[in-house]
Amino acid sequence: MKISVAVFFGCRSVEHEVSIISAVQAMRAMNREKYDVTPVYVTKDGIMFTSKAMFEIESFRDIDKLLKMSEEVTLIRKADGVFMHPINKKAFKKVKDLKIDLAFPIVHGTNCEDGTIAGYFEFLGLPYIGCDIISAAVGMDKAVFKDVLKSAGLPVLDCVRFTSREYMTNSEAVLSNIKEKVGFPLIVKPVNLGSSVGISKVKDQSELDEAIRLAASFADKILAERAVENLREINCSVLGDIDECTASVLEEPIMHDEILSYKDKYEGGSKSEASKGMASLGRKIPAEIPDDLAQKIRDISCKIFKAIGASGVVRIDYLLDDKTKEVYANEINTIPGSLAFYLWEASDIKYRDMIDKLVDTAFHRERKRKNLKFTIDTNILSGVSFGSKGSKGSKF
Ligand SMILES: Nc1ncnc2c1ncn2[C@@H]1O[C@H](COP(=O)(O)OP(=O)(O)O)[C@@H](O)[C@H]1O
Ligand SMILES: [Mg+2]
Repeated sequence: MKISVAVFFGCRSVEHEVSIISAVQAMRAMNREKYDVTPVYVTKDGIMFTSKAMFEIESFRDIDKLLKMSEEVTLIRKADGVFMHPINKKAFKKVKDLKIDLAFPIVHGTNCEDGTIAGYFEFLGLPYIGCDIISAAVGMDKAVFKDVLKSAGLPVLDCVRFTSREYMTNSEAVLSNIKEKVGFPLIVKPVNLGSSVGISKVKDQSELDEAIRLAASFADKILAERAVENLREINCSVLGDIDECTASVLEEPIMHDEILSYKDKYEGGSKSEASKGMASLGRKIPAEIPDDLAQKIRDISCKIFKAIGASGVVRIDYLLDDKTKEVYANEINTIPGSLAFYLWEASDIKYRDMIDKLVDTAFHRERKRKNLKFTIDTNILSGVSFGSKGSKGSKF
């Protein structure tokens, strides 16, 4: 029997459109002899819809039109599993609840990739592909990610962190702390966004206030860290789980500016490439760096994957100082753009085989969990009562 897989994408995130591209690419790559695939598009308002038209990227040119021909759905838990349930039963009388065996979230950014969607599936008891709540949340918060890596002895840049309120109420203290502990040139960024949104390079003090205000317009928590000089960026994907994982060949994305921008990432520098998502980025694969450095980065990548307890496919991005050859882990994308399939194809793993591996890993986690005890067979409530004096008379 085929496995019923629901692919979730969109969501309330600045990377909504990129997620649509990543998801449509993945659905096209999935082996239809093994999987019954159901697209579940989550609007920017958080409403879920499904439609066969969602297999085609062209359908998303006019989202209002697409939604008119789609069904609004929700997930419900029943005794025999989790089902996709049409909200408006009257309009779709013949539509039955559809059993879902596995959720495949292909969402990027806050309110979804950050552990939110993993929590939704956990609550329903629906097996899902990818990182669990804690690893996804650690991956989304750049400051917490640094803490976890530092405690595991893995290379990250130190930073100064503060809230937008701290800055607004006591900017002098924040500014002097940054100047003393970080120095110029530096980078200011929100701790939990993506796609280079709200990030600035600051050359001297005169640019600092504007950079902080920009970051504060996107997020409450902000960090400042040293800007790596002679910068080259190197990315590595990791596939598997904490028991067993593999690192891909490395890529070097090509920047058009000092900071790898949203346009560089998703439009390949030009609008016509936009529909390819992360796969459109100008890049060198494999990255042209010495073999021993490449191997070192691959080893660190597997250690990072295990340190945060990741699962599925991730992409870890590094900052390399080309002069000193020092390398720092910059961030982890726990659901990377295009699922980093182009790095696996370059590592001789076809996209469809990579998805099979993701499915196997998800069910492996599910089997491991089934062997764990989540409830205990006692019923402390069997003889309980509050007595006639209310709660005073009971042990509780
Ligand atoms: N410490 C740094 N030194 C130099 N450049 C940086 C530094 N941090 C970020 N950048 C530049 O900014 C880009 C975006 O930053 P990143 O932390 O990757 O945020 P995002 O989550 O938005 O991708 C990076 O790809 C890099 O070009
Ligand atoms: Mg980045």
